[in-house]
Amino acid sequence: MSQSTIESILQEQRLFSPPPELAEQAHIKSFAEYEQLYAKAKADPAAFWAELAEQELDWFEPWHTVLDWQPPFAKWFVGGKLNITYNCLDRHLKTWRRNKAALIWEGEPGDSRTLTYAQLHREVCQAANVLKQLGVTKGDRVGIYMPMVPEAAIAMLACARIGAPHTVVFGGFSAEALKDRLNDAQAKLVITADGGFRKDKTIPLKAAVDQALTNDGAPSVQNVLVVQRTKEAISMQTGRDHWWHDLLAEASADCPPEPMDSEDMLFILYTSGTTGRPKGVVHTTAGYNLYTHMTCKWAFDLKDTDVYWCTADVGWITGHSYIVYGPLSNGATSLMYEGVPRPSNPGCFWDVVEKYGVNIFYTAPTAIRAFIKLGNEYPQARDLSSLRILGTVGEPINPEAWIWYQQVIGGSKCPIVDTWWQTETGGFMITPLAGATPTKPGSATRPFPGILADVVDLEGNPVADNEGGYLVIRHPWPSMMRTVYGDDERFRHTYWEHLPPRNGQYIYFAGDGARRDQDGYFWIMGRVDDVINVSGHRLGTMEIESALVSHPAVAEAAVVGRPDDLKGEDIFAFVTLENTQSPSEDLKAELKQHVVNEIGVIARPGEIRFAEALPKTRSGKIIRRFLRNLASGEELVGDASTMEDQSVLEKLRQGF
Ligand code: WT7
Repeated sequence: MSQSTIESILQEQRLFSPPPELAEQAHIKSFAEYEQLYAKAKADPAAFWAELAEQELDWFEPWHTVLDWQPPFAKWFVGGKLNITYNCLDRHLKTWRRNKAALIWEGEPGDSRTLTYAQLHREVCQAANVLKQLGVTKGDRVGIYMPMVPEAAIAMLACARIGAPHTVVFGGFSAEALKDRLNDAQAKLVITADGGFRKDKTIPLKAAVDQALTNDGAPSVQNVLVVQRTKEAISMQTGRDHWWHDLLAEASADCPPEPMDSEDMLFILYTSGTTGRPKGVVHTTAGYNLYTHMTCKWAFDLKDTDVYWCTADVGWITGHSYIVYGPLSNGATSLMYEGVPRPSNPGCFWDVVEKYGVNIFYTAPTAIRAFIKLGNEYPQARDLSSLRILGTVGEPINPEAWIWYQQVIGGSKCPIVDTWWQTETGGFMITPLAGATPTKPGSATRPFPGILADVVDLEGNPVADNEGGYLVIRHPWPSMMRTVYGDDERFRHTYWEHLPPRNGQYIYFAGDGARRDQDGYFWIMGRVDDVINVSGHRLGTMEIESALVSHPAVAEAAVVGRPDDLKGEDIFAFVTLENTQSPSEDLKAELKQHVVNEIGVIARPGEIRFAEALPKTRSGKIIRRFLRNLASGEELVGDASTMEDQSVLEKLRQGF
């Protein structure tokens, strides 16, 4: 975050109460009711979740133990059996919701489609039978690399139906990144599409899958199932590749849900950290189902009468929890949109809101800031009066953007639900409840009932009100990640031993800095590790550095985040070249493209600076702090006396 953003957040005093008409009708109607729930959950978290699990979910067999906590490994609802697709689909078919819209899809070149619960159930069952026919059985991992089409959600649900954990890879990742993830997960099958529409272009997804699988790149993959979307020419390898529509047309729509253990793996989703390769975050069935269900219902005050739209891509956790599983478990109508805002279509989001009468709208600060820049005339040209609740996620929202969102999009009548959470947490952790929590611009407000959030120092001691510190969670919650796929040790030390456990008390280290004010409201201050947040996308600086040094011209690279008005942060790379190389604009362009090939378009560096040398300590560690200062155009902060060679910094500085 830029210094000015932090300062404006620190000065924020305004308080907005939920509109009385909304509060009266809400699931949780007042701040007092929230506080009662919070106190009840805190006194006995297991009992609190058990009561909700019984009320809100359907079970094939009851659990015998609510929580088995062997720090840092948690099991929830031990012994229970259920299937998340039964909760998302079958149970609604027995009610009037049978013919209610489950998914509304607005496609990019003007296509659209609505699937009722009955229709969605049928397609999920057919797709599940196709997976079975291709040899996928319970426990096998399935890769999903798709555009934002209904088949992406159908594919996820089909996997869950038969107990095959999915691993969705965002369509903006490169063939190289896809290959790494397929190998780490040892995926048996990949579901993809010929291509997808993105920003007035098409992206060749099937070609990327071909590239990932070429030369036995991902030997675990036996079959590829291809959805037809762009109708561009692709190659189909006989025996390995199959058209989705051919196989689904022949498949039976009868596929009973596999009875899953509460703790059976539901999915793996890769995310970036400080060190090493992306981590496979593991989520399991029951706790995830319950927690995404409850958070969606209470934070967004989700009702049967709502059209609910989350603008995320299903390739991210937001899409998993709040396009697919959370809303469908509640029997809601969830809208999926294939487009992204861009100069050629500056009003596209507001067109969709008007067209479908969207009631709840959930997006990212980076999108909000882009809309501010495009001008008020686009939202003002549309009827947005259907909106009743607005959500935001992905990075701290600056108060100016918050107020614009509240006034221009929400017509000053919609609560702003700023949800802080992570891939690892599965669902919202700190968030207002739309009908209950007074909001302050820039604050994610209070923890969800059952979430014991705190701000501590490096020893794990709570800090005083309004003092900055590390955001931690003190008690396990149902949708917490269970481990890093195949690497329990990495799970333990990344999240649970960063702050050393004391008296057997393990606390979850989120990686964010935060401040809690005198009202108990949390203000998230951004990452405290080497993770950067570009347009709400999380990237490890080390991943980008590894991508850069894998280019033969590069000797060393150091990547830092630089504050950016639109993206939140942008990627700034310092690069030293091999002796044989000389700096040029062409080489810069080539290196940027190289990172795109290695990771994906989301990791393209905004700027590359060639340097003769990088500032290092005497023991050879790159001093990123100075590079961050340089990249942001700030004064150099801190002590330079540990530096090996003071002239390095001087030379770098001259370039700015
Ligand atoms: C990181 C998690 C969880 C869905 C999207 C991102 C940042 C997320 C907020 C918010 C301030 C936020 C944090 C967090 N973040 N939401 N409302 N206010 N910061 O998921 O890719 O796992 O990234 O995003 O830094 O640690 P993710």
